[in-house]
Amino acid sequence: MKVVFRASALVLVTTLAACGSDPAPEPTEQIVVREPGADVSDDAAPEPAGEATDSLVAAGKSAFNTCIACHVLEKGGANRIGPNLYGIIGQAAGSADGFKYSDAMASSGITWTKEELDSYLANPAAKVPGTTMMAGAISDGSRREAIIAYIEDASAN
Ligand code: HEC
Repeated sequence: MKVVFRASALVLVTTLAACGSDPAPEPTEQIVVREPGADVSDDAAPEPAGEATDSLVAAGKSAFNTCIACHVLEKGGANRIGPNLYGIIGQAAGSADGFKYSDAMASSGITWTKEELDSYLANPAAKVPGTTMMAGAISDGSRREAIIAYIEDASAN
């Protein structure tokens, strides 16, 4: 609905502009469709790898809302129901200071590469039988990819 509204507003603006001057200016505006809930503020650090990565990270930030009930993702942030996920990529499973992990997680022997994160998020209980992470499975592979990109990006700040 929003998109339709914006598109018609654009047509209106262009039409009005055309009344005042001749020849009518070419419309140069672009309609940018953003995911609801995606943070578009400027304080997100620009990612040198370019726009494709930016939008993946933005999508991941919004998808990370699923995780926020249980996880903080900031340097020195608190453990909640789940451990702080800051810097998790490359870390050994079960190593957040002061968090009480399940035996299953603590003894899993996993190092959280992106691939390991991907398979854990697809099905936590299958990857780590006995894990106490009872929610947060993400069946959509592209959502997992976005979340992992966001975790990596946020951990670099
Ligand atoms: C209902 C609460 C809950 C939700 C929602 C949740 N988690 Fe968890 N998560 C946990 C708990 C509890 C643990 C610790 C599991 C254990 O010890 O077996 C955990 C562990 C993890 C770990 C392993 C951390 C480590 O230090 O080894 C990762 C990675 C993780 N979660 C990622 C996520 C992501 C990404 C999401 C969102 C897609 C998410 N979780 C959603 C509760 C949650």
